[in-house]
Amino acid sequence: MPSAVIDARNVQLTLGRAPARVEVLRGIDLSVGDGDSVALLGPSGSGKSSLMAVLAGLERASAGEVSVAGLDFSALDEDALAVARRGRIGIVLQAFHLLPTMTALENVAVPLELAGEADAFSRAAAELAAVGLAARTGHYPAQLSGGEQQRVAIARALVGRPALLFADEPTGNLDTATGSQIMDLLFERQRASGATMVVITHDPALARRCARVVELADGRIVADRRAA
Ligand SMILES: Nc1ncnc2c1ncn2[C@@H]1O[C@H](COP(=O)(O)OP(=O)(O)OP(=O)(O)O)[C@@H](O)[C@H]1O
Ligand SMILES: [Mg+2]
Repeated sequence: MPSAVIDARNVQLTLGRAPARVEVLRGIDLSVGDGDSVALLGPSGSGKSSLMAVLAGLERASAGEVSVAGLDFSALDEDALAVARRGRIGIVLQAFHLLPTMTALENVAVPLELAGEADAFSRAAAELAAVGLAARTGHYPAQLSGGEQQRVAIARALVGRPALLFADEPTGNLDTATGSQIMDLLFERQRASGATMVVITHDPALARRCARVVELADGRIVADRRAA
């Protein structure tokens, strides 16, 4: 069997209570191979962020099977899932979600410190250098531009050397030129780390840069194609 980093079978997600109950995901089958880059497209409300949350172990599927990086998510409780995510899964969001009271270096070191790694700060410094921020390690988020904050978020997502990198509209809050630099950086760092990447985007140019494009509509996969 080829090694799949993501293997989702008939995944369903129902959220909210009646009458606001929504079938957000309605039977998702998705297998993603090691080292692949996948763009996740679809209209607003189609379930992209929800699918990412399920695949990243942030949200539990209501039904179906999710296996990620060799872990059966349904077999893990919340705590085990949180531990399992560390070191396996990195996440970059549209709003960078940096801790405002911590410097760039501290923000990047946090996941390693949580994992009890002794060399957290030297690895965090190396990762910040790799995203071009060697001269900004002591800056607080409020002292950084949007593009710089997203670089810090990328460094934080990759510092644990995850097998899987998720990005939810990583350029959504940036101007076009900065967004394009951030995308270059994301692809460069993905290639260098060998991580499998799933990127949610509304930007067709960004989607074209991925090896595979998966389209969602109304909680279902409606298209799945590989770049020529
Ligand atoms: N906690 C919740 N309770 C009820 N419905 C929810 C909840 N969270 C999300 N939904 C619904 O699930 C659907 C999918 O939401 P999701 O955020 O995954 O969409 P999306 O494809 O990421 O959209 P966008 O492009 O706007 O970010 C939406 O219709 C949303 O209203
Ligand atoms: Mg979304």
